[in-house]
Amino acid sequence: MKEIGIGLIGYKFMGRAHSHAYRDVEIFFDLPVVPAMKVICGRAEKPLRMAKERFGWDEYETDWKKVVRRKDIDIIDITTPPNAHKDIAIEAAKEGKVIFCEKPLASTMKDAYEMMEAAEKYGVKHAICFNYRKLPAIGLAKKLIDEGKLGKIFHMRAVYLQDWIIDPEFPLVWRLDKEVAGSGAHGDLNAHLIDMARYLVGEFDEVTGMNETFIKERPLIKETDELETGLKDKAKSRQKGTVTVDDATLFLARFKNGAIGSFEATRFAAGRKNGQRFEINGSRGSIVFNLENLNELMYYSVDDPEYVQGFRTILATDASHPYAGNWWPAGHIIGYGEAFINMVADLLTSIARGENPSPNFYDGIKCQEVLTAVEESINKRGWVKVK
Ligand SMILES: NC(=O)c1ccc[n+]([C@@H]2O[C@H](COP(=O)([O-])OP(=O)(O)OC[C@H]3O[C@@H](n4cnc5c(N)ncnc54)[C@H](O)[C@@H]3O)[C@@H](O)[C@H]2O)c1
Repeated sequence: MKEIGIGLIGYKFMGRAHSHAYRDVEIFFDLPVVPAMKVICGRAEKPLRMAKERFGWDEYETDWKKVVRRKDIDIIDITTPPNAHKDIAIEAAKEGKVIFCEKPLASTMKDAYEMMEAAEKYGVKHAICFNYRKLPAIGLAKKLIDEGKLGKIFHMRAVYLQDWIIDPEFPLVWRLDKEVAGSGAHGDLNAHLIDMARYLVGEFDEVTGMNETFIKERPLIKETDELETGLKDKAKSRQKGTVTVDDATLFLARFKNGAIGSFEATRFAAGRKNGQRFEINGSRGSIVFNLENLNELMYYSVDDPEYVQGFRTILATDASHPYAGNWWPAGHIIGYGEAFINMVADLLTSIARGENPSPNFYDGIKCQEVLTAVEESINKRGWVKVK
C-alpha cells in the first residue's frame, strides 16, 4: 500500500495530539494509504528528541526548512503558534506538499490570504484542524440539520469558557502576545465556535462585538523550548510586560440565512476548563452540545407527540452515527483525542482519492474573515459586514 510521509512541525500540545492521531489511526480505520511518521520538528534538541522517542517518529530535525524540502515527505503538518504558520505553509506549497495547518489559519488576515494564494498557485491540497467537526455528536448535529429536522434555524447561542489565566501572576506566554498569537481568547476559542457556526448554521453576514483584557500586565517569561519540560516558574522574571490580546471577546451575529447568534470566548470563567457549549434552535426543533459530554447530543423535536415532547439525550456511539462505526461497540464512549484521529483519517482518505480535504484553508479564511470583522466592529463600536 502507498506510504504517505508525514513531517510534523511542533511537538507540544497539538504536536502530541496529531502524533497520537497518526500513530493510532490505522487501528481504527481501513485506510487506502499508510501514514509514515517520518520526522518531527522543533527548536530545541533535547525535548524534541524526547518527543521523537515517545511519540514514535523515525527522526527529529530542528530546522523546519529541511523538513519541508525532504523528498520523502508528502504532508507538512503545522502545529506551531499562529505567526509561524505562514512561512512554513508557503514553503511547503512551493515544494508541492499537502499542508495540514492548525487553527487559526494565521495570526493576521493578510497572512491567511497569502497562505491560500500559495496553496492555489502551487496547486497543493490543504487542510485546517477544526477538530470538533469530527466528533460523532457534531456529525449527528450536521445530519439532523441537513435533513431539515430542525427546520428553519433561528438561533445559535455558543460559549467557549476557560479559566487558565485568572491568576495575575500567570506569566506572559505566547498566547498573550498579539504578534505571535494574533489575538487572545478570540482567535483561540471563538475560532472554533465560528467554524462550528459556519458548519451547522451557515455563512455570517454581519457582526458586532466587545472585548476586555482584565489583567493588563503580567510577569515576563523567557519562553524557550527547554522550558516546555516544566521549568516555567524558574524562568519568570520580576519584570512585567504588557498583555496585547483580549482575555474575553463576545459578539452578536446575523447569518445570511436570517438566523441570529451570540458568541462568547473567555479565559476568565472560573471553574470552566474547556467549556464549549452551544444550542441551536429552529422551527422544528433544537439541539444542544456540551464538550464536557462530547459523546452526547441533546435533541428536541416539535414533531414528537405532545405527551412525550422534551429534550432527549442521544449517545452518539452507534455505528449509524458519523465515525462511531470505526470505534468501539455502541455505548463505549470516545474522548478528546479521538476527534484528531477522525480528522487524520479523513485527511489521508481525501489525499488518497485525489480530493481536497475538508475543512480546508477556505474554511480557515472564512473563519478568519469573521474574526477580523469582529475586531473591526470592536474598534469602531458598531456593526461590521463580514467580507
Ligand atoms: N485544534 C485545537 O483544538 C487546538 C488546540 C490548541 C492549540 N491549537 C493551535 O495549535 C497551534 C499550536 O498550539 P499549541 O497549543 O500546540 O502550542 P504549544 O506552545 O503547545 O506548541 C507549539 C510548538 O511549536 C513549536 N515551534 C514554535 N515556533 C517554531 C518554529 N519557528 N519552528 C519549529 N517549531 C516551532 C514549539 O517548539 C512547540 O513545540 C496554534 O495555532 C493553536 O491555536 C489548536
